[in-house]
Amino acid sequence: MDLRNLISLWEKKGTLKRITQPVSPDLEITEIYRRVFREKGPALLFENVEGSRIPLLINIFGTWERVWDIFGVASQQELLARLTPLLNIEPPSGFLDKARALWKLKDIAGLLPRTIKKGPCQQHVLHETDVDLSVYPVMTCWPDDAGRFITLPVVVTKDPVSGKQNMGMYRMQVIDKNHTAMHWHPSKGGDTHHRKAREQQKRLEVACVLGCEPAVIYAASAPLPPDISELLLAGLLLDRPIETVKCKTVDLEVPANSQIVLEGYIDEDESFPEGPFGDHTGYYTPQRPFPVFHIQAITMNDNPVYPSIAVGWPPLEDILLGKLTERLFLPLMKFVVPDIIDIDLPAAGLFHNFVFVSIDKRYPGQAYKVMDSLWGLGQMSTAKVIVVFDSNVNIHNPDEILFHLGSNIDPLRDVTLKKGPLDILDHASSEEGFGGKMGIDATRKLKEEGYGRIWPQQAVMDEKTVRRIDSIWNQLGL
Ligand SMILES: Cc1cc2nc3c(=O)[nH]c(=O)nc-3n(C[C@H](O)[C@H](O)[C@H](O)COP(=O)(O)O)c2cc1C
Repeated sequence: MDLRNLISLWEKKGTLKRITQPVSPDLEITEIYRRVFREKGPALLFENVEGSRIPLLINIFGTWERVWDIFGVASQQELLARLTPLLNIEPPSGFLDKARALWKLKDIAGLLPRTIKKGPCQQHVLHETDVDLSVYPVMTCWPDDAGRFITLPVVVTKDPVSGKQNMGMYRMQVIDKNHTAMHWHPSKGGDTHHRKAREQQKRLEVACVLGCEPAVIYAASAPLPPDISELLLAGLLLDRPIETVKCKTVDLEVPANSQIVLEGYIDEDESFPEGPFGDHTGYYTPQRPFPVFHIQAITMNDNPVYPSIAVGWPPLEDILLGKLTERLFLPLMKFVVPDIIDIDLPAAGLFHNFVFVSIDKRYPGQAYKVMDSLWGLGQMSTAKVIVVFDSNVNIHNPDEILFHLGSNIDPLRDVTLKKGPLDILDHASSEEGFGGKMGIDATRKLKEEGYGRIWPQQAVMDEKTVRRIDSIWNQLGL
């Protein structure tokens, strides 16, 4: 589903509302959007944004119904099923197995992105002096933001060594009509490519896609390992390959169905004092130097729509993106750490403050093994607090979390403190991006873990009594 098809579909279903009243991109859209999101309301197409003739679309991922529409599925299960070919590839043992494995690989290969010659995103091409960001309805989200920020971009760069493309979602503060700051955190895909380009004393080519298939927008936010293609993930999730075109002025490929593409480069050492920006932590992130994106060309389709999002005090729309990642990546995490039964990253923990995990505990120290494995796994390395529970705990229920956390731990014995990388948005650590981490073992303790007492049995009603009361229930007059 590309953005235009989705707009038509949602309009028919009544889950998209066109707003023709004039509104300001400065603060007003955030306030309207925030209220609509909280009521699980429609996607909003602002057709009369002051200062711009281009409509702005927001609240794209605001409800699960719209998320399933984006992927063309009816449920989370249906979407998850599309990833199973990835997980079922095992070393083949016999001829038949080999044939099956090849068949699966062929299936996956059919979902790789396809380059086509022409795409709607290049119906109009603006060069150099015609480039002017002020014509787009870029929002100022919060009162003390440093300016206008492009908040839902898909930023495309190429690894100067391997030649592989990366797509990441990094906000961009508008500096003037043809420059933005590029807020990629240290060691994210774009930052890694920039570092490698600097080592080769080269500028880094960048394309910024605004409004491609929302499946690709999601994929750009997903914590994929380096060199795994976001376009392949989107293709797998959509069950059809994404079509791409070559950019006009940089050696990069972008989704052909995109609305707007900014093309340009980032110089080796240039920086701009980016921020403050009201972030998804609910606080303003402070001003810091980030690279400068020089825009040398803009390509667009005939009637482009500008996509946006506002983050802030949770929950807002980005929570659904994070929860989608939690569910889609759980099978992959289980593949790497088979002890894991389930994982919950609570929205209020902003996806880096708390990780609750349940395991089928079988041996001493297993909870610590799981914590360490998670801390070693990609972006999970920034998790601040990991709590491990037994498999009978429903870790998605806050009451159960508190009940078992309170009942099962001896803080002197079951808490481990360490140092490590933290999310750079964490404002509590003494250093930015580095500080303390806590692991809590809330599982039932074993003798070999120094527990000399007998772990009590849970008081649960026996089956016979439950069945007997079921059978007389209607006669009790309750
Ligand atoms: C709405 C939204 C805004 C985001 N903004 C940023 C950002 O400004 N900088 C950043 O490094 N990550 C940001 N992220 C997270 C990254 O997109 C995410 O970590 C992604 O996996 C990065 O891809 P990469 O590993 O290819 O760099 C944002 C995510 C969302 C959903």
